[in-house]
Amino acid sequence: MVKSGAERMNGLFYPIIGFASCVVFLYMSFGDVFTSSVNKEIVNLSFVERNGTQFFVDGKVFYINGWNSYWLMDHAVEGSSRPRIKQMLQGAAKMGFTVCRTWAFNDGGYNALQISPGRFDERVFRALDYVIAEARQHGVRLLLTLVNNLQAYGGKTQYVKWAWDEGVGLSSSNDSFFYDPSIRHYFKSYVKTVLTRKNTITGIEYRDDPTIFGWELINEPRCITDASGDTLQDWIVEMSTFVKSIDSRHLITVGLEGFYGPKSPKRLTVNPQFWASDLGADFIRNSKISTVDFASVHIYPDHWFRHQDFEDKLKYVAKWMLSHIEDGDRELQKPIMFTEFGLSNENEDFDLDKRDRFNKVILDVILKSAKRKRSGAGSFVWQFLVEGMEEYNDDFGIVPWQRPSTYKLFTAQSCRLARLQGTLPTQAEYLKQICSHSP
Ligand SMILES: *[C@@H]1O[C@H](CO)[C@@H](O)[C@H](O)[C@H]1NC(C)=O
Ligand SMILES: *[C@@H]1O[C@H](CO)[C@@H](O)[C@H](O)[C@H]1NC(C)=O
Ligand SMILES: *[C@@H]1O[C@H](CO)[C@@H](O)[C@H](O)[C@H]1NC(C)=O
Repeated sequence: MVKSGAERMNGLFYPIIGFASCVVFLYMSFGDVFTSSVNKEIVNLSFVERNGTQFFVDGKVFYINGWNSYWLMDHAVEGSSRPRIKQMLQGAAKMGFTVCRTWAFNDGGYNALQISPGRFDERVFRALDYVIAEARQHGVRLLLTLVNNLQAYGGKTQYVKWAWDEGVGLSSSNDSFFYDPSIRHYFKSYVKTVLTRKNTITGIEYRDDPTIFGWELINEPRCITDASGDTLQDWIVEMSTFVKSIDSRHLITVGLEGFYGPKSPKRLTVNPQFWASDLGADFIRNSKISTVDFASVHIYPDHWFRHQDFEDKLKYVAKWMLSHIEDGDRELQKPIMFTEFGLSNENEDFDLDKRDRFNKVILDVILKSAKRKRSGAGSFVWQFLVEGMEEYNDDFGIVPWQRPSTYKLFTAQSCRLARLQGTLPTQAEYLKQICSHSP
């Protein structure tokens, strides 16, 4: 997704950097505000594992009602916005959500975690520590993304610029992120620092922390300068192997949008349009790599088709999902996660009932797949916010408890999945509140 909210946000914040450094100073003088705001009693979680096309927790099958809040680390940096993290995690946990996908990167820009290659802002790292500690308190696991293909929060463009500025870059092309040895080295050293980070609140290294569902290598990778797909394939092999060499316990996904490429000619008709096979990504080939544990797919018919009737969008969404679930069962033998989906409010005929219907199609496909023990393993709506975040919204933002029908739709999914797979110990209290009235 193009994070227009994030772009607007950067624009908004530059004028107040002076103010922000005062806040930094105050933070330093008040000591460890993070520790004091997290509950002391540590909630016990175990690692999520995979066997074939299914996820397991404590030996029990685990299908996921998940969501995206990319902004958690960013908003945890400053005291004024930090309460939003607890509000979001607590609110979603009460709705029975179990996994949140969020950014574990911010390269070069405002509140950057990585200021320049290998240089980190401890203040921002503590914000990520806080997000992870707080998620654990609510029994929520995190799917953490390590870099962006897009420019929001730095992305591959920032890495290329760093290499160029230091005089080691091979090319100014954004795609040199994937093939330039210096940039690969930058990224690996970033990954190593994050994976071996010792959380200052819990004392647990990230790689040993079961609160982390898994690692996503890169959000929506495309390498349009090599449509054969070889360049991206090579990068995924190298980086997933590298992550496994440091952290063999966590699951890994790529972060793909799900487009079929030249190695799957029979599948090309399922792509939204012809252009989708020329982006350098190749869903089946990329996801087959042995160090990739599960596949990821996004669903954005608003961006993929210029003018498409709403009913046709719904039909396309079901077809797109079923095709990938079939791949998971037949070709990959791995779970398929729909890690982003949304209906844009910029459609001329948009209304919130349509968005509910759109979301319901996706949740229903996951439930049906789960009932049949097929590979569709979870869905992550793009994107949830809390009240008062209007300036961070894009055309997909939802405050999930603001509208009764939306609230019911997502809580019903938590209850339906729980009925199928049983209740995680961390969820029991929340589900008691919501599931008795749910269909
Ligand atoms: C969590 O696990 C630790 C170590 O195994 C144990 O000492 C502690 O009592 C557990 N806490 C809860 C709330 O179950
Ligand atoms: C994975 O599932 C298969 C088939 O159900 C089972 O035989 C095998 O023991 C499982 N492996 C692990 C590591 O749990
Ligand atoms: C890299 O990507 C950015 C953002 O999409 C774009 O503005 C820029 O022109 C690209 N640079 C090159 C050399 O392609």
